[in-house]
Amino acid sequence: MEQPRYVTVDVPAKINLRLAVGPVRADGYHEVVTVYCSVSLYDRLRASTAGEITVEVVGPQAALVPLDGSNLAVRAARLLAERAGVASGARLWIDKGIPVAGGMAGGSADAAAALLACHRLWDLDLDRDELLGIAAELGSDVPFALHGFLAVGTGRGERLRPLEAAARLHWVVVPSGGEGLSTPAVYAACDRIREETGWTPEPPRADDDLVGALREGDVPGVARALANDLEPAALRLNPALARTLDAGRAAGALAAMVSGSGPTCLFLAADGRHATAVAEALTAAGYAPVLAAGPVPGPAVVDDGRYPGDEAWHKAMSAADYLGER
Ligand code: C5P
Repeated sequence: MEQPRYVTVDVPAKINLRLAVGPVRADGYHEVVTVYCSVSLYDRLRASTAGEITVEVVGPQAALVPLDGSNLAVRAARLLAERAGVASGARLWIDKGIPVAGGMAGGSADAAAALLACHRLWDLDLDRDELLGIAAELGSDVPFALHGFLAVGTGRGERLRPLEAAARLHWVVVPSGGEGLSTPAVYAACDRIREETGWTPEPPRADDDLVGALREGDVPGVARALANDLEPAALRLNPALARTLDAGRAAGALAAMVSGSGPTCLFLAADGRHATAVAEALTAAGYAPVLAAGPVPGPAVVDDGRYPGDEAWHKAMSAADYLGER
């Protein structure tokens, strides 16, 4: 019997080192300037040959992920098939390691992984810009999820400028034990807070202190320049997060912040050993932290059903090479 063809992709979570939120645009989105960074928490997606596009999700938080047409990986596969003009199907299987609705772009990661896996499974020849264009239609964070490593995002977050970094950042990540936060609800709360305080946001600018500190590997400088304009809104919707942030500060973290639209909390450590100490203190205080480092490369094909015996195979497995640049 013939082996089914399949493609497996590992895709990292993202964090926003800086998320500056500007005014609401005519299309309802907010103008943002953000510095995206991929970190070493991964979802694994496998796409195998099938007649229709379906999805199955495993992992401790699998029950929180929709399995219908609203699933972002399913939408990604459908849109790719439509744009490529193929009638192919795929059975998608996702092992969730990224917190669900946690502000770490897990859904966007799955969409990027589905694009990469199905592109290979269906033997398509769309170029990098076409794939990034499809990614942008799927969601503001999907182009970065396809790209990975470190980049400035502008517009809705979908327009990317890659950054170089000498800094290796060690994070202690505290996912929320309970429900996630909805991104639209957090943006709406941000608008309400601004209305109440009478503050009108200017179009945001890139943060040069942060970019310089990243380039020079200046971790305390990065810690000083971290900022998330959505944090007050996430704290308003989930006030318990303030205690989590305080616990991380008390544990000695260089900086504490909410990840994206939350509710995952992030703590920056000086190095790997320090991260372990911060995580131990948070565990003793009753939290369930995990360690992550970044920036890390973006999604990579780790297995496409062929024998991984030669160097060319390994090279071809990297999304960065596959997409033509990092
Ligand atoms: O682009 P994406 O589908 O991920 O966005 C989800 C929601 O988050 C949007 O519908 C919008 O409410 C909000 N959003 C925003 N401004 C952005 C990105 C997202 O208001 N730049």
